[in-house]
Amino acid sequence: MFHLGWFLNFVADEWNGTWGDGGRDFTGDFYVEVARSLERAKFDYVLLEDKLMVSTAYGGTMEYDLKHGVNPKHDPVPLAVVMATATTRLGVVPTMSTSFYPPFLLARLASTIDHIARGRFGWNVVTSAEDRSAQNFGLDKLYEHDERYARAAEYLELVTKLWESWEPDAIERDYATGTYANFEKVHTIDFEGKYFKSRGPLNTAPSPQYRPTIAQAGASPPGRELAAQHADTIVTPANGVAEMKAYRDDIHERMKHNGRDPADCKVLYLVSPIVADTHEEALAKRERWFTDPLYIEYMLAEISSITEIDFAQFDLDEPLPELTTNGERGALASFVAGGRDKTLRELVTGSGMSSNIPFVGTPAEVAQEMGEVMEEVGGDGFLITSPVMRLNRRYVTEITDGLVPELQRRGLTRTEYTTTMLREHLREF
Ligand SMILES: Cc1cc2nc3c(=O)[nH]c(=O)nc-3n(C[C@H](O)[C@H](O)[C@H](O)COP(=O)(O)O)c2cc1C
Repeated sequence: MFHLGWFLNFVADEWNGTWGDGGRDFTGDFYVEVARSLERAKFDYVLLEDKLMVSTAYGGTMEYDLKHGVNPKHDPVPLAVVMATATTRLGVVPTMSTSFYPPFLLARLASTIDHIARGRFGWNVVTSAEDRSAQNFGLDKLYEHDERYARAAEYLELVTKLWESWEPDAIERDYATGTYANFEKVHTIDFEGKYFKSRGPLNTAPSPQYRPTIAQAGASPPGRELAAQHADTIVTPANGVAEMKAYRDDIHERMKHNGRDPADCKVLYLVSPIVADTHEEALAKRERWFTDPLYIEYMLAEISSITEIDFAQFDLDEPLPELTTNGERGALASFVAGGRDKTLRELVTGSGMSSNIPFVGTPAEVAQEMGEVMEEVGGDGFLITSPVMRLNRRYVTEITDGLVPELQRRGLTRTEYTTTMLREHLREF
């Protein structure tokens, strides 16, 4: 069996698509429906993406970012709470950046939501990738890539100490002595690192998971190392079976080095299956979506935003030059993984940025193929995201009510939850 996660953005609705509803607001109602559908399909978790800026990377202007609604997005943390209270088993995993959230506030927020979600809270740990984000927090430039991870490593050490600053049985609620918490079981942490300093203890009671679930998406060596030290689940692009397997093997090696059991972290590969009633219909849908000029412009604005490389400067019908970034190196590597000889247009329309494993066909065909890929990779699951610009009900339904039943029939994904908390779901198999 393998695990399923879903990846989405709290962005503008699909106002201009055939299957959008033409003007949703940001109440979260739509996402509550999505959460319930994912729970019906027995997903482990929903991961909520986030960025903290409006980008000017594409063409040096905010025009395309705003035109396509790439970055205007709402805070995923309150949305995670709303989704959690509307469900009973689904894990909720919003993104927060170690470069900008003060550690004490983040540890407290995570602990609080883990209480509200009854042990189903996860934190997607990112270091952020854009100068534009840094400039919203008083910096001129984002910290250098590897330094971001050095800060993140210290950050995780600190928040872990805060979560552990209460012994698990510190709360007594002893009627006889009138004692809520035993002061001998709550400790200051007196943390003093290179980047952060915090006295502690946390002023929240220990949460159901004690240490909330940690998700991470490290691609670079320091990113992988951070994930190997702390993550309960890793999300990563699906750059072909060989690379997927090599990535997971590398993470397992790093986990063993850090004294961890590889079974304690599940690697979920980002894919966007396209399903329809017939194989031909699915192929036609893919062709229609990926060659739409609006889609191409959107994707270029998106990849520009997360790498801060201006893709407007390149000819669509020429191969790309060698590129480097201080932003999301994994996203850049995944984008160009389609082939050095490919033109920019081919890279954008050929794979979509989210997946180089093209699962296209009937639900039965795609389920079969997903099983085969997982078998070759060795585990642990897939993180599904919409292949097109914005999420709509139709895509969710095609997956949760079309594809997932086929996966379940093959014994590939769970048909019932046997556990209640997120880390337990991930360790169930
Ligand atoms: C599925 C997935 C989701 C991600 N979500 C976010 C996000 O919400 N916000 C963000 O700033 N970065 C996000 N990232 C980027 C990662 O945090 C990371 O920067 C990227 O994978 C590149 O790895 P590196 O930082 O080790 O170079 C995501 C990456 C992946 C693969």
